[in-house]
Amino acid sequence: MEKQTVVYYSYSGNTKKAATAFANENNLQTTEIKTLKTHGKFYTFMVGCPKSIRGSKVKIMPLKPYIEELQDATMVHVFSPVWAGCLNPAVNAFLAELPKDKQIFVHAVSAGGESAKVTVSERIEKLGLAVAGYEEIKS
Ligand SMILES: Cc1cc2nc3c(=O)[nH]c(=O)nc-3n(C[C@H](O)[C@H](O)[C@H](O)COP(=O)(O)O)c2cc1C
Repeated sequence: MEKQTVVYYSYSGNTKKAATAFANENNLQTTEIKTLKTHGKFYTFMVGCPKSIRGSKVKIMPLKPYIEELQDATMVHVFSPVWAGCLNPAVNAFLAELPKDKQIFVHAVSAGGESAKVTVSERIEKLGLAVAGYEEIKS
């Protein structure tokens, strides 16, 4: 059977809540993406939004433990807060380092319930990963 897992980044807790609920409902393991540095809200908006729009990355904690947990999974449910319509830079960093044999199911968590689905999907596919599904979650 296809092995699935849940990976998330959460700045203020909403995405963690959504990812955990989904994982519990579906009996899946969760892995949290953590940034090397954490910043206050002002910096996060001023720097995080332009980075998100560009699809840029930030430094995240070493990916090795994630890879060990993820190596058997074929489908990765990636939960990301939506920043400026796009995925969060920590999630971009995670996706860039993920082995290319994974299918990605995007769960985009936002205040408005809408994200730049086409741009986000194209960016993931450009990394050589397949987008198997896309869900918008209003937080
Ligand atoms: C830097 C930043 C940018 C955001 N940009 C958007 C946006 O473009 N559209 C939207 O609906 N919500 C936006 N939000 C709101 C978050 O997507 C929303 O609050 C989400 O639930 C946060 O998840 P978290 O608590 O896991 O960090 C933004 C929040 C932050 C901090």
